Amino acid sequence: MNVTKAELIITAGNKNQFPEMTMPEVAFAGKSNVGKSSLINCLVNRKALARTSSQPGKTQTINFYGVQDRLRFVDLPGYGYAKVSKTEREKWGKLIEGYLTHRETLNDVILLIDIRHEVGSNDKMMYDWVAHYYNRVIVVATKADKINRSQIQKHVAMIKKGLNLRPQDMIIPFSAVTKQGKEEIWSVLDKVVED
Ligand code: GTP
Ligand code: MG
Repeated sequence: MNVTKAELIITAGNKNQFPEMTMPEVAFAGKSNVGKSSLINCLVNRKALARTSSQPGKTQTINFYGVQDRLRFVDLPGYGYAKVSKTEREKWGKLIEGYLTHRETLNDVILLIDIRHEVGSNDKMMYDWVAHYYNRVIVVATKADKINRSQIQKHVAMIKKGLNLRPQDMIIPFSAVTKQGKEEIWSVLDKVVED
């Protein structure tokens, strides 16, 4: 999709604020600071539609973005941020669960994993959970510009193995800096809109 229109619909801190289910949605999940908001900005050709920060734990709400009036991108709050209280973690769990398990218009969950690192236990838990509810999981291996090009396939294989991906899942290396992988992700998402 050639995106010329993208807008924030709502920043939801609880499920009463979720917008009506009128359009297909794609949600972005992953560890805090992995690059979810940056990926959304890249896909919609905007520098700062979704707020990004080098400070982890920036996005604590579920943020809904309208894309070309045809699709919604849903920026989920990141997990695994150590400086969060138990109460806040529980609130996170309830909010995410309330969204992921009751959203008929949610077509796909994109799980972001930092291409540099071994899969963490939180990542594996999130993958297993999403895989349980959804037919396929799209894994995006972010920050590909941070490793040598010749190492990319090796790291992709490491993540595949770490998450124990199924044949119907996919993994796409991506960089918000070089935009590597952007077209490949869009070619998958274009089909969501067409269906
Ligand atoms: P939370 O909202 O805290 O969960 O973080 P997030 O997953 O939305 O991450 P965000 O997009 O805010 O990015 C975190 C930091 O990583 C920022 O400093 C980004 O500039 C940087 N970053 C994101 N993607 C990339 C990438 O592909 N390459 C590089 N080099 N840096 C990136
Ligand atoms: Mg964010």
